[in-house]
This record gives sequence, C-alpha cells and structure tokens, in this order.
Amino acid sequence: NKTANQMLVIFGASGDLTARKLVPALFNLYKAKQLPENFVVLGVSRSNMTDGEFRRKVVQESTYLKDKVKDASSDFINTFADKFFYEDLGEDYNKVYNKLATRISDLNNKFSTGENYIFYLSTPPSLYEVIAKNLSEQGLNNETNGWKRIIVEKPFGYSLETAKKLNIGLQTYFNESQIYRIDHYLGKETVQNLLVTRFSNSIFEPLWNRNYIHHIEITNAESVGVEKRGGYYDKSGALRDMFQNHLLQIVSLIVMEPPIDASAQEIRNEKVKALKSLRIMRDEETLYNNTVRGQYLASVIDGKKVKGYREEEGVDPNSKTETYAAIKFFVDNWRWKDVPFYVRTAKRMPTKVTEVVIHFKSPHHQVFKNSDMNNKDNQLIIRIQPDEGILIKFGVKVPGQGFTVERANLDFYYSNLADNNVMDAYERLLLDAMQGDATLYARADEVEAAWEFVDPILDYWKNGSDVNIYGYSSGVWGPTNSDRLLEGDLKWRNPGEN
Ligand code: BG6
Repeated sequence: NKTANQMLVIFGASGDLTARKLVPALFNLYKAKQLPENFVVLGVSRSNMTDGEFRRKVVQESTYLKDKVKDASSDFINTFADKFFYEDLGEDYNKVYNKLATRISDLNNKFSTGENYIFYLSTPPSLYEVIAKNLSEQGLNNETNGWKRIIVEKPFGYSLETAKKLNIGLQTYFNESQIYRIDHYLGKETVQNLLVTRFSNSIFEPLWNRNYIHHIEITNAESVGVEKRGGYYDKSGALRDMFQNHLLQIVSLIVMEPPIDASAQEIRNEKVKALKSLRIMRDEETLYNNTVRGQYLASVIDGKKVKGYREEEGVDPNSKTETYAAIKFFVDNWRWKDVPFYVRTAKRMPTKVTEVVIHFKSPHHQVFKNSDMNNKDNQLIIRIQPDEGILIKFGVKVPGQGFTVERANLDFYYSNLADNNVMDAYERLLLDAMQGDATLYARADEVEAAWEFVDPILDYWKNGSDVNIYGYSSGVWGPTNSDRLLEGDLKWRNPGEN
C-alpha cells in the first residue's frame, strides 16, 4: 500500500456528487483496505451541520451509503464514518478560511495525517479560483511539509477562453503538478484498456493506420433525458457535456502515437499531440457538412410518456441546446490522413451504450465474387459500456459447395475475468490522486487543445446562417439528418443491430 497518511477535504460536501460517487468510492476503498492508516475526510460546505450529523447522513441516507452496502455490518460502517468530520463555510470567506485552516491543522495534529492534503472541489466551477486563492492565502498550497493537491470536476470552462482563464486562475495558486482535473471516463477500465489493446498486442497496432482502417465510429448513447439537471444542461448541451471532455479523451487514446513509457508525462504528451492534430473546422460550409445537432421530442416509450427536451424542468421552452451531436472530422497527421472519424453522443436514445468501432478496409482485390462479405468490412468493436468487452467481426466460409462468405464474431467479455474486482471510475481516480499518479487526469494543455477543436463548432451552432436543430423522437437513434455526414453508402452502426 503506497498511499501515504492524508486528509481529504471535500468542498461541496452536502452536494449530490459527494453522496452518489465520492462517499461510496471511499467506502469501497476502505473495504478493500486501500485507505491509509491515518485518514480523515473533512466535509466543507455552506450548510450548517455538526460532525455527528454529517456522519449520520453518510450512514443513513440512501444517496450516500444506505442500501449500497448491505453486505457490511453496522460496526464496520460506523468505524468508516468515524473518519468523517464537517466544517461549515458560512458566508464570510476570509474569516471562514482562517477557521478552516485551524480546523485542518487540529485534525492533522490529532490524527497524524502528515500535512498531506487533497482539496476536492465538488462545487460550481465559478468558485474554483476563489477557493484556490483562499487556500493559498492560508498557506495550504505549500508543500514544505507534506504534499497538497487540488482536484477539480468538469466543466473545465465553457469555451477555450474561459478554460484558459480557469487554468491560469488555478495555476496562480497551485503548480500544474498539484492540479488534478477529473474526467471520469478515464477511470473506466475499458477506456484504459484502449491503451493496452493497442500497445501490448502485435496483432492490432500494425494495422492501426490509414493503410488498413477505412473509418472510425464512436457512439455514446444514453437512454435517460436530462433528468433533474435541466438548468445546468440547457447552458451546456451535448457538445460541452460529453464531447469536449469524455469523447475527445477516447479519441485521443485511439489517435495517439505509442508513448515511450506508461508515465503520466509521456502518455499525456502523446494525447496532447493527438488532440492538436484534429483538423479544426473553420468555414461555414465545412461546419455544415460535418456537424449535425438535434433535440429530443416527447414520445411514448414502453407505454410511458416521456417529455420533450423543451418541456423539461429548468429548460427554456425555446431552447436551442443540443441533446444530440454528431461530428465528422479528420486527423491531420501521417498515421490518419483522410480517415474519417464519426462521433455521436446523445440523450434519449434506445439504450445506454458507448462503443468504438474500427472499420477496416476491404481487401484490395475481391476473390470471392457474389459474396455477402463484399460490402461488409472487418470490424474491431470496443465496448466501453455496458457488456464491457471486445468483438472482432471477420469473414468465414459457409460450409457447403462454393465460396460463400459470412461474417462471424470473436467475442470477449470482461466479465469472463470474473475474479477481477473491477473498480468503479471514481474509486480508481481517487486512489490515483491519493497516490500522486496523474496519468488518468487531464492536463491543462489537453483541455485547451480539446476546446480549440470544439469552439468553432459551438460558435457556428450559435451564430451560423444555415444551421438547424433537428427534432428526434425520444427512443430512436437521433435525427435521420445525421446520415448526411456519412460518406458513400456508409451507415451508422447502431449497437445491438447485426
Ligand atoms: C457526465 C455528464 O459527465 O457523464 C452526464 O454530465 C452524463 O450528462 C454522464 O449522463 C455519463 O456518464 P456515464 O459514466 O454514465 O456514461
């Protein structure tokens, strides 16, 4: 166990993320004996609460641990909850940060946490800089004794300009090496496995280029709508909410060159290079031809009425915010020249699924004429979620006379590695930050390179002269108009079909 004694200070401790993700992740780490011997969680927020009340919430409220930890005895859960403390932030910032610093110091002395502190900012991004500033004024960024780290949640900005401002704001008070920008997709086993599939097998990487790959398709679909987050989502939209971060992270892992080693520095250097090679779309015609946006409409799914996006709580009834985004783009480098990438993300699709499909080129010369395979490519399908696994589609001879070719499947399911206790994304990422490993966190230049690509699309969707937002019924695979992005007779591969 490499995890040093430490204190985790969570800002926004009475919020949803702390309850749904952070506390359960910490509990699982505790169960797996991954927490250090001396470990304190200090919850901070504006609500008035005592340590006891905070612990009671942790143990008794169903959004936190209750119902999620049925296999644990109450003694075991209570011992875990004893690590939790609470400090009320109130309204008067400076006074309060004095008080907070004293509380941190007292807890550190009492529980010997070695002055190693993680500050987890689970607050609106508008507070990030202010919190960082106040922490630094209290000397809580100083690493003379013990290390100090700060974790921030997305969104990292709203545009390239605001992302840069945010980065500068944080870097004024903390070094880049102390800043951990969380992207929970990087905590998913299957996303990390993209690196392993590519760089630990000699059967894929030699084909991983424009000579053999025809096009690449990524689908990220959710069956839910915006649920209770209409207010946030309406100012964001699919491009900001999913594409700029999670999907471009996946893209960078597919596009990147082999790193020299698996260190945070080398992997992230290659990812930045990959993101910088995405061809930025600048003129209206290119933007029109390569982007489609949509919005879900009311419908009936499984006999139940579901609301259209514009009727959701917190959403402007005339909203032009996209809940569906499909983008076609190219990567301007030696490896990927002229290979189209098709990426789509949406809410209210028929099912929840994320997958990457590598479509290989057909053989140069078709030997088996009249074969069904003529128009069917080899595919490597990486299922990110659910049914995590890898599927290869290839041609085989149909038994009998002649040479009829059919497509067969080689299918691997992660669940076959049954003994492998797969960590939840937040568990993995929290533990990494606790151990000082930033490989799976986004660096400032990665975030900015991703915005650089996304910004012109957002501007075009906002101001372009010929841009529509297409309605699609909830429960279908998006607007039919998205087919216009596809070259030739290509079709989107809707997961679950063929
Ligand atoms: C979040 C988005 O980052 O990712 C949500 O804000 C989305 O809108 C969620 O639902 C999807 O995450 P996952 O892990 O369920 O695919």
